[in-house]
Amino acid sequence: MASASIVSAVTRRQLYDLRILEGKVALITGGASGIGECTTKLFSKHGAKVVIADIQDEQGHSVVNSIGLSNSTFIHCDVTNEDHVKNAVDKAVSTYGKLDIMFANAGTLDRPKPRIIDNEKMDFERVLSVNVTGVFLGMKHAARVMVPARRGTIISTSSLSSGLGGVASHAYTCSKHAVVGLTRNLAVELGQFGIRVNCLSPYALATSLAKEFKGLDDEGFEKATNFMANLKDTTLRVDDVANAALFLASDEAKYVSGQNLFIDGGFGIVNSAIKLFKYPPES
Ligand SMILES: NC(=O)c1ccc[n+]([C@@H]2O[C@H](COP(=O)([O-])OP(=O)(O)OC[C@H]3O[C@@H](n4cnc5c(N)ncnc54)[C@H](O)[C@@H]3O)[C@@H](O)[C@H]2O)c1
Repeated sequence: MASASIVSAVTRRQLYDLRILEGKVALITGGASGIGECTTKLFSKHGAKVVIADIQDEQGHSVVNSIGLSNSTFIHCDVTNEDHVKNAVDKAVSTYGKLDIMFANAGTLDRPKPRIIDNEKMDFERVLSVNVTGVFLGMKHAARVMVPARRGTIISTSSLSSGLGGVASHAYTCSKHAVVGLTRNLAVELGQFGIRVNCLSPYALATSLAKEFKGLDDEGFEKATNFMANLKDTTLRVDDVANAALFLASDEAKYVSGQNLFIDGGFGIVNSAIKLFKYPPES
């Protein structure tokens, strides 16, 4: 009789081989790098046609080349510019005939300054412009084509800081709370059309955005975040977030809407002041 581990390996292999987004069309903002790049590749592997919308043209084209020109395309898009976002959505529809999945993932960071009085209005507005207005525009133009089709799913990228204070700057924390609010409000509006709207909230992971902000390389970044993590003996990577996006984008999540899915290994629910379950060092 096959052991449980062989059965589970076979099942995983079969799941991996399934193309669960076959026939779907996705638009991914911030798809040129990090979480967006990994999700673009995963969606494509699962049969989706993908449009990458990003400000990094060279990186965007290089992702398209690695996937193949018949399954993906790049469009220059600054998510703070409504014409750009409108064009990106229209490009998905004109190239592939429809839009099934919108992943409003592009985001930016600012350096946290401990005192609010040192924070500049200009920096605050820049972060909100990309992280909130950018997501709003992506959702608005996705809804423009999804509502008449009465079909689609929208996913946004928020952050651990949507549920916790003190882990990022005021602007970033504020922006990621806003993304959850927008996601929930839109899930209510679009439910009547059968359109699902959800949000992903990852813990820290070593992407360009996060490494640059911390001034660390991959190893140094992961060492620091693993030290603080609740879930040990593992490391959060971009494919973990991409897999969560795949689930939310797929029909496997057909009744999931209005949710903020934390990919944080339980970090957000720990009360770090109480060490009730801390094992003694010898165990
Ligand atoms: N890395 C982390 O630790 C972490 C944790 C939680 C949430 N997030 C969120 O994940 C999302 C993706 O970030 P990432 O970590 O993959 O970083 P990343 O820097 O690798 O990717 C961000 C992408 O967004 C693009 N982008 C930035 N501003 C844009 C704009 N105005 N218009 C269009 N594209 C723009 C960048 O060019 C880049 O390709 C962001 O929303 C970020 O806030 C990241």
